[in-house]
Amino acid sequence: MKLAKFILFKIVSKMYRVILFFGIPSFETPFSPLNIHILPKGHNTSKSKETYDKYYLNNGEWNQDVELFNLITDLSKEFNSKPSLLDMGCGLGDLCFNLENTELFSKITGIDISSVSIKKANEFKKSHKSSSSFFTSGIDKTNFSKSSFSIITSIGAHEHLKKPDFSEIKRLLPNDGICIMVLPACGPFHPNRGNWVQKGVQSEWWYSRKDWEKFMLRDGLRNSTKEYKNIIENYITGKKKRWTFILKPI
Ligand SMILES: C[S@@+](CC[C@H](N)C(=O)[O-])C[C@H]1O[C@@H](n2cnc3c(N)ncnc32)[C@H](O)[C@@H]1O
Repeated sequence: MKLAKFILFKIVSKMYRVILFFGIPSFETPFSPLNIHILPKGHNTSKSKETYDKYYLNNGEWNQDVELFNLITDLSKEFNSKPSLLDMGCGLGDLCFNLENTELFSKITGIDISSVSIKKANEFKKSHKSSSSFFTSGIDKTNFSKSSFSIITSIGAHEHLKKPDFSEIKRLLPNDGICIMVLPACGPFHPNRGNWVQKGVQSEWWYSRKDWEKFMLRDGLRNSTKEYKNIIENYITGKKKRWTFILKPI
């Protein structure tokens, strides 16, 4: 009896901790923990371009994992013809190069605030004989014309803006376009909810799923993840540390 009580206590306290931190689990957070923020520890955080110029080199991979990659390629098949893709906050362009290899996209473009990352991406582009394009640009304001891309990916990028701002995505997507967005996850009761949190050399906003959804709605994007239930269910694995949204323009 004592043992049963002890086990019950352990289970309840574990569940309580999980819910406190990540909120009630839902299929909007389908991915295993992404390999994020493994930069040198102990540096002063800065949200500046200089930080990313200095710490761009993380084998080119901050957040990538195969499940996310498969989700993007599966979603690309939802279009009648090959979609164009913009990766916002592309770093060294790793995601772009890997997606290009699938030949599922008509054109792939990556942008990043770090000119050092983009220079490196352009060097890889040459050695990979890639046709992807890379530009130094903020993700909150670009020079691309309206409705330029069918798919936009933002993998661990928008939480680094000074304020949550998704309006440029809305401008760049046509009505039938989609955005795949990965953001830091925290539950509604997490002490860091609504805070600018230092993580390694970076800082980022932490919000609950509903908080992020409100910002997205404000900027003209709705969370359409449920519409892709069949696709996304293939990717529900592991712990839930990042919110993953599939967004559509309103
Ligand atoms: C955590 S890394 C993610 C990189 C890549 N998306 C990945 O998943 O591997 C964040 C990236 O966003 C870029 N970034 C941060 N703030 C940005 C901004 N305002 N505009 C454009 N890029 C930005 C950084 O330079 C960095 O490459």
